[in-house]
Amino acid sequence: MGIAAGIHVLITGATSGIGRATAVLLARKGYSVIATGRNPAALEALTEECAGLRLTTLRLDVTDAASIRQLQLDVRRITGEAGLAALVNNAGYGQSGPLELVGDEEVRRQFETNVFGLLAVTRAFLPDMRQRGAGRIVNVSSMVGRVSLPLQGVYCATKFAVEALSDALRREVHGFGISVSIVEPGTIRTSFEETALRSAAACAVEGTPYERPMSKWRGMLSGIYTKGAAPEVVARTILRVVSARRPCTRYVSPWQGRLVLWLLGMLPTCVVDAIFRKALGLTRGDLRGGGGGGGGGGGGGGEKT
Ligand SMILES: NC(=O)c1ccc[n+]([C@@H]2O[C@H](COP(=O)([O-])OP(=O)(O)OC[C@H]3O[C@@H](n4cnc5c(N)ncnc54)[C@H](OP(=O)(O)O)[C@@H]3O)[C@@H](O)[C@H]2O)c1
Repeated sequence: MGIAAGIHVLITGATSGIGRATAVLLARKGYSVIATGRNPAALEALTEECAGLRLTTLRLDVTDAASIRQLQLDVRRITGEAGLAALVNNAGYGQSGPLELVGDEEVRRQFETNVFGLLAVTRAFLPDMRQRGAGRIVNVSSMVGRVSLPLQGVYCATKFAVEALSDALRREVHGFGISVSIVEPGTIRTSFEETALRSAAACAVEGTPYERPMSKWRGMLSGIYTKGAAPEVVARTILRVVSARRPCTRYVSPWQGRLVLWLLGMLPTCVVDAIFRKALGLTRGDLRGGGGGGGGGGGGGGEKT
């Protein structure tokens, strides 16, 4: 049973990928969807696709406090007394690059979007949910919120933070009738890959020991993403969370990802480390053999373990 159809669900980052697929699916299922995003043309296209369904689009940049304040007012106007039944915090992207070299600005922007943005949007709607004694929060994390990948450290750190915030929040607000669930997508065919490649391009690895590992990572990425699941798979998982009578804490999507997490959890850390080093050309041998040079990264190069 769960939340009845026709009730208001807000989705962030609904202009593309998982957020967009979720908005379309929930609207088709009869939910009253408030689909938010930064790109007006993409919001317009979504409105057209969902013509005749209960879907409203609103502009929202999750890193912009004024935009969140305006959203609060608009949501109040749209939902009236009923308020938001569910909030799907989906907006996010992946900053790639070795931790030694990702720019400070890029690190901050990544946390502003994936962590502080998510928290700010959540806090904007939490008081209303608490006063009504009901609400459902769905945070889109990632499988890399459970296992941290080399060359993706900043992105992984944001998703670990999402996991921690979600766990704490769930324990804080359960007594108010609010549930907090985490959805952990695996590899999903969306614009995520393109954004990750673009973010990597902004990271100057040329002539450093990370040049070859990053190029290996880029090569692996397209192979992995062509075989990735469709965003509709995650959308169906989010529908399950929104409509479940009692939503679970974590949903890996697609579910097969649970096996990978289980296996990685069973293996000793040193074995997992070796697997990742080998896969990305980060073994001592690999690093001695190639890439650029000694002085490139400016931080002593990591010759010592
Ligand atoms: N695809 C995967 O393999 C994968 C795996 C694990 C987790 N995830 C997570 O799933 C979520 C959705 O990603 P996706 O795969 O659907 O990628 P996507 O197609 O690139 O969609 C990301 C969405 O987030 C929005 N967004 C980014 N920054 C924003 C901001 N400051 N304010 C508002 N919206 C913003 C984007 O809007 P713009 O178009 O305006 O940039 C876009 O609508 C992300 O949190 C991502 O970390 C994805």
